[in-house]
Amino acid sequence: MQEYNHSFNYRLQTNKWGEMEMLQIKDLSLHVEEGGSSVEILRNINLSFEEKKFYAITGPNGGGKSSLAKVIMGIVKPTQGSIYFNGEDITSLGITDRAKRKMGYAFQQPPRFKGFKIKDLLNLSFGEETSEQAICDVLLEVGLCAQDYLNRDVDASLSGGELKRIEIATVIARDLTLAIFDEPEAGIDLWSFQKLVETFKKMHKDKETIMIIISHQEKILRLADEVIIIADGTVKEQAKRDDIMPRIVQDLECGCNKTCDIGGSADAEPIG
Ligand SMILES: Nc1ncnc2c1ncn2[C@@H]1O[C@H](COP(=O)(O)OP(=O)(O)O)[C@@H](O)[C@H]1O
Ligand SMILES: [Mg+2]
Repeated sequence: MQEYNHSFNYRLQTNKWGEMEMLQIKDLSLHVEEGGSSVEILRNINLSFEEKKFYAITGPNGGGKSSLAKVIMGIVKPTQGSIYFNGEDITSLGITDRAKRKMGYAFQQPPRFKGFKIKDLLNLSFGEETSEQAICDVLLEVGLCAQDYLNRDVDASLSGGELKRIEIATVIARDLTLAIFDEPEAGIDLWSFQKLVETFKKMHKDKETIMIIISHQEKILRLADEVIIIADGTVKEQAKRDDIMPRIVQDLECGCNKTCDIGGSADAEPIG
């Protein structure tokens, strides 16, 4: 089913189960210029994401997962193809306009903001003057003890793992329609990772946000409604979690002599 309104670039579609496809990626490719030649990073990507669902994107390093996240968020412009969000063609919109449409992204390597306190950063994320308690609660969600962090600067004195968790907290604090987390597990200790898994689970249960988590961790993949495998710059598979997980687990365990169907990665070790 397709509905068009007066605007020529407006399109809202439902899938065969009648679920609303909030984010649609159509025939998307990304090429970058490197050393005078064009390198293909993403090729002919077609994906759709339905409202309120939890998606995990996985696949080998260098497959194009972070590039896809950056294209969705408007950090990188695609060479070809279109992106529709909530029925609107957002392909040419920049980061700020996408943020206004309640799309948020936690980077694989988070940026640092010198001279800015953690509580100020989180206040900004909540979008309005918020209680200190709410800020403390969101820090706790990512496994950080609030009293130690509220008044610290978001600068080089924070470790990579601390910074990463603060950035995840800023995404959780925002009231988003779409949230993308790129390898939230990277550089994070096991205890904080367990806490994050619980936080993502709760976020999915309590909020309406579409969650897209790029991850190699089995525990995160198991939270997802659907799992998407990206390798060699293209979508290898998009399937319901229970249909795909047995094959992913088998693939992670496959030895040197076996041929792997899906293509795991060296750092794809399941925790616990
Ligand atoms: N700006 C760029 N210039 C050249 N190559 C790039 C650029 N961005 C990404 N790549 C290459 O594209 C491929 C996909 O990268 P990336 O999206 O980071 O993969 P993943 O997140 O799946 O590990 C890699 O081979 C990477 O080196
Ligand atoms: Mg990446």
